[in-house]
Amino acid sequence: MLSLFLLMVVAKKTSAEKFAIPHDVIEKLNVKTPVRIFTSDELKRYSGVDSEKPIYLAVKGVVFDVTSGKKFYGKNSVYNALVGKDATRAIAKMNLDEEDLKREHDIEGLEDKYLQDLDKIFNDVYMAKYPVVGYMDYLLSVNKFINKVRIKEEF
Ligand code: HEM
Repeated sequence: MLSLFLLMVVAKKTSAEKFAIPHDVIEKLNVKTPVRIFTSDELKRYSGVDSEKPIYLAVKGVVFDVTSGKKFYGKNSVYNALVGKDATRAIAKMNLDEEDLKREHDIEGLEDKYLQDLDKIFNDVYMAKYPVVGYMDYLLSVNKFINKVRIKEEF
């Protein structure tokens, strides 16, 4: 009985743990270089509509420059709905439903299988292919480490 209880305690991740920035991201982050913190309104400006601007997409609160994947993410391209926002939920579920896109980084109610898929795509697609340009502001409340980094004030 006690071991079952302990197992449940260990297995139940808090939302902060689910959203912890993976260690390899932290290691790559040079704390001497100021990082950019995005609000969701700021991120909207990089949705591929303005061809002069880079295209940004956030997954798990990490903002990636996906401009090199313009054929997927640019205006009128298949995955354009994912950009200019934190598309964590839609990417975890691998769907482009309006409802999931609107829920941005809300992972409430997602089965573990989706969370595992999310981490796999995060690492194998986004970390592997695209530069990190910043972090979403909501991470400030769930990741203590980010309080240690210097934040860029001008762009
Ligand atoms: C019939 C359905 C689908 C097919 C056949 C399909 C096919 C593909 C293929 C072939 C690639 C790799 C392209 C390449 O590397 O050149 C890809 C990438 C991708 N797909 Fe899909 N896909 C489908 C649906 C979806 C849906 C519903 C989502 C919603 C989130 C999605 C999200 C992605 C993402 C995020 C990538 C990575 C793009 C990148 O490398 O930046 N796909 N898909």
